[in-house]
Amino acid sequence: MSFRTQPLPPARLNRCQLFGPGSRPALFAKMAASAADVINLDLEDSVAPADKAQARGNIIRAIDDVDWGTRTLSVRINGLDTPFWYRDVVDLVEQAGDRLDQIMIPKAGCAADIYAVDALVSAIESAMGRTRRLAFEVIIESAAGVCHVEEIAASSDRMQAISLGAADFAASMGMATTGIGGTQENYYMLREGQKYWPDPWHWAQTAIVAACRTHGLLPVDGPFGDFSDTAGFIAQARRSATLGMVGKWAIHPSQIALANQVFSPDEAAVTEAREILSAMEKAKAEGAGATVYKGRLVDIASIKQAEVIVRQAELISG
Ligand code: COA
Ligand code: MG
Repeated sequence: MSFRTQPLPPARLNRCQLFGPGSRPALFAKMAASAADVINLDLEDSVAPADKAQARGNIIRAIDDVDWGTRTLSVRINGLDTPFWYRDVVDLVEQAGDRLDQIMIPKAGCAADIYAVDALVSAIESAMGRTRRLAFEVIIESAAGVCHVEEIAASSDRMQAISLGAADFAASMGMATTGIGGTQENYYMLREGQKYWPDPWHWAQTAIVAACRTHGLLPVDGPFGDFSDTAGFIAQARRSATLGMVGKWAIHPSQIALANQVFSPDEAAVTEAREILSAMEKAKAEGAGATVYKGRLVDIASIKQAEVIVRQAELISG
């Protein structure tokens, strides 16, 4: 291990982030009553340009008026390449109540993007006498974003999470697809005449996980567009969980339970993790650094792996 130890991410659940357009306030109460851990009220791409101002007003009112429970409440602002983002930040930070936890910055391309939003938020927080500092989450969804993901992860002490945005990422990379996440028909290998389909999102996901883990942030998988494809969503989410991501977006309520299920360790996994920890306690007491559990090697690294699962189970049980 490096002399610099790896920081833990924020101790909060992020299994499912439910999105809803700021221009559809009728959805807000349904979102607040959902089983999502994080609510993302959107000012960006699900809101038409002509509706931006009205959506800001809807969101600012709902932050105070709706009972969001214990969920993390986040608003996605517009990208820094638009004329909308500064007004999103100014209106939100000047007018929204303290219940707002987080601002989501889309299409982050470099650390300076986060610096710019941080400077504006800091000035307004100070001017307004806001005592609760807003957190940031960002979306990596461009070639520049994935190239600079590590500096983005390190860009501000407000940073808590990074998501992969598959659709904008694919467009920015020039990928030949209009699918939002999941298996891509033309991304296949051939072996003895049989096709199989590797994961085209793997590299970007792994880059995000590594940057997040280095800087103590939550790595999150973004949207899966085909909300009628339950099996496809689950397969994508399981791959993300296996790579170290802690959750996934839901762009329709039908995806919430699926994300919660995949990103909650099942009882068998938690029991096994606890048994590995006990086996290692026993080995330690006997002066050994490694032992055998169910016919396989477990050692000091296994403790850290088991602790990831137990920590998540403890967060869920509160
Ligand atoms: N959050 C909470 N509830 C939602 C919802 C959401 N995002 N989207 C739909 N619902 C509700 C509907 O109001 C409806 O409720 P009802 O049974 O009480 O009438 C129910 O879920 C079924 O909705 P359905 O008719 O299947 O969906 P729709 O046609 O109304 O909307 C979408 C479909 C995709 C347009 C909508 O889900 C949506 O806007 N999703 C979020 C898009 C977004 O924010 N994108 C940005 C991030 S990529
Ligand atoms: Mg996007």
